[in-house]
Amino acid sequence: MLRRPRVALVAAVVGLCLSMAGSAGAQTPAGPSPRVRDLLGRMTLDEKIGQLNQIPGGRQRALNSRLDAAALDRVRRGEIGSFLHVAGAAQLRELQRMAVEESRLGVPLLFGMDVVHGYKTLFPVPLALAASWDPALMEQTARVAAVEATAAGLNWTFSPMVDIARDPRWGRVVEGAGEDPYLGSVLATAQVRGYQGTSLADPTSILATAKHFVGYGAAEGGRDYDSADITDRTLHEVYLPPFHAAAKAGAGSMMTAFNDIGGVPLTAHPALVRGVLRDRWGYDGLIVSDWNAIPELLNHGIAATPQAAGALALRGGVDMDMAGNLYSAQLKGAVEADSALLPMLDQAVIAVLTAKERLGLFDAPYGRTDPAREAAAMLTPEHRAVAREAARRSIVLLKNDGGLLPLAASVRRIAVIGALAEDANSSLGSWRAQGKVEDVRPLLPALREALPQATLTYAQGYRPEAAQAIAVTASGEGAQAVVEISDADALAEAVAVVRASDLVLLVVGEHFDRSGEARSYTDIGLSAAQDALAAAVLDTGKPVVVLLMNGRPLAIPELAERAPAILETWFLGVESGPAIADVLTGRVSPGGRLPISFPRASGAAPLTYAHLPTGRPAAEDLVRDTARYRDQPITPLFAFGHGLSYASFDYSDLRLSTTEVAADGSVEVSVTVRNVSDVAADEVVQLYVRDPVAAVSRPVQELRGFRRVAFVPGEAKRVRFTLTPAQVAFWDPDGWRIQTGEIQVMVGASSADIRARAAFTITSEGVSDIPAAAIATPSSEEPVA
Ligand code: BGC
Repeated sequence: MLRRPRVALVAAVVGLCLSMAGSAGAQTPAGPSPRVRDLLGRMTLDEKIGQLNQIPGGRQRALNSRLDAAALDRVRRGEIGSFLHVAGAAQLRELQRMAVEESRLGVPLLFGMDVVHGYKTLFPVPLALAASWDPALMEQTARVAAVEATAAGLNWTFSPMVDIARDPRWGRVVEGAGEDPYLGSVLATAQVRGYQGTSLADPTSILATAKHFVGYGAAEGGRDYDSADITDRTLHEVYLPPFHAAAKAGAGSMMTAFNDIGGVPLTAHPALVRGVLRDRWGYDGLIVSDWNAIPELLNHGIAATPQAAGALALRGGVDMDMAGNLYSAQLKGAVEADSALLPMLDQAVIAVLTAKERLGLFDAPYGRTDPAREAAAMLTPEHRAVAREAARRSIVLLKNDGGLLPLAASVRRIAVIGALAEDANSSLGSWRAQGKVEDVRPLLPALREALPQATLTYAQGYRPEAAQAIAVTASGEGAQAVVEISDADALAEAVAVVRASDLVLLVVGEHFDRSGEARSYTDIGLSAAQDALAAAVLDTGKPVVVLLMNGRPLAIPELAERAPAILETWFLGVESGPAIADVLTGRVSPGGRLPISFPRASGAAPLTYAHLPTGRPAAEDLVRDTARYRDQPITPLFAFGHGLSYASFDYSDLRLSTTEVAADGSVEVSVTVRNVSDVAADEVVQLYVRDPVAAVSRPVQELRGFRRVAFVPGEAKRVRFTLTPAQVAFWDPDGWRIQTGEIQVMVGASSADIRARAAFTITSEGVSDIPAAAIATPSSEEPVA
């Protein structure tokens, strides 16, 4: 939803600027549509404020439970613009009917929910999906989610979360695409397209929300909701690009973040929300606060009264108040006290009405509330098939010494150890919408089915117990935490099962509820119970395949050192078990790659492969004083982009179409990749760049292209990427600067496995107006002999 930016920049790359104006929508550069203008003109102040009010119609785990008589009366009086945590075609049809037929102006309602990785058909958690490095797959999973959610009456999802996260202590890393702004931008675009389809007015399209604008992933110490202290450069180069990409893809809404940056909460941040998002980028979608964030401006200490908080949020550019009931209680007084707020109030109402119009709600208010469609849409065989494919493609092979995987057909006695092996609940991850545990196909039965020749014996190895304490999230949802208790008997039983086996599948990681909102931890290793179990199992000397189940990077240096094979299986959704079995048996070669670095220790967080070189670049030699820790190697445990395959790939003949390129030109980077094995498999070809000398220090590597390519045994393909100088520009207050000089190009299988290098020179200077990481690199592949 980008109109032409209001602030025109001197652009050497004019084409880029123009290409941003392509999104469909009712609101044009000329302003609101005639219908929206007419409605606005007929609204009372109370009705306007009502449009800005979103209230919970239920709870995350008890949808519709708050739709009482008082709430329905508020609908009739036009005091509510939107509900969240509601669902069901019949219920929402009735609710919509009240708004459309029984309120004075008949304005339809927005129905929102966190449909984050599926509605009924649960897909892998977002971080896992990002590990597929497969935008088409992410678009497809978002499409299925939209088809199911809209069948249940919803028209708005609070997804995708596009926060860049470089600190795995922050529990919400599970909800995003990881550490990299380029990967994050490409995947944000794909998800927006999937949710919104080709037209938002289509009854299977759902309004997407890019959240949380912005810097939420930079919370200090990885503590959820905490302050972010980010330089302008990092903000623009790292945290903002995926929002720009989402806006350009037409994301109909954005959610402001809970956190402050440098003391200014994003819920009341005119410089970023109005200045950058609205004015500089020309974004004209709907901006909603996060849950109760407007009243929380008092906690931030920037408002003395609720009325002041409301005025600040409105001035800051927040159109809709999620669950705070503050706009509804305070804006009238605020506007009466300060008439300068009135035009801002009107703008906010226009944003809400325009979103409703884009969704086609004025013309077809009941388009998404057909109970017959709802009954037929959920968890269809086709949707399950997409979930199976998504789960397979998200799995990452981290280590495979001696080719232990895939499992040899001769392995007869397999020990399956660890309570997560039977924890179907964890497969659903956090934000599960209408996903149900009984719809999950868990690991153990799937393994039995996939390995009929083998005997599988299972032992828990420790005791998972529901904790007494109930953890409460910001949205007021209770969740049962699980504690893992070392148990001598359970451990002894597991060791006995292991001793009687030929091979061990050791399933460890996290209970799903350790990753997610308000799930920050200082220690991102395994629990003590799991550590003890892993050590005892490894001590037996049996061959061990570790299956990791987790929503964040784990610091597991000892396990990584001792276990010969490690498969990262995240939380994979309803088809978790069969997908893992597909990879273990070799029916499918793992092709996922890490979208985030795994640190060696909790204390090594935050970290990223895309760091600056520093004056004393890290060296292995401890005699020299360099930028590293003294107690750990300088490398990550597993690097960004890392992932092994059952096949081997050879990279050759890296070529550039030119070695000299003007600021508005382009350079084609091509390389031949050959599958030098007898296994069909995917390779994710990754393209990194570096500007070795610039006016400001530049990262040692930055991802600027990738392509997941399928190969049959022995096959070779030429893979091509088209780069432009604007993609290596660096941020400057006056625009993105393209400087003359050398740009290094690295192509390889991960950020730590570069197979070929080249360089080109930029011959003229220029200024771009798009964040460099938000520009997608076109790529192609063709077979070669
Ligand atoms: C989260 C948002 C979510 C909202 C509504 C908040 O606590 O931060 O991501 O969309 O709740 O459930």
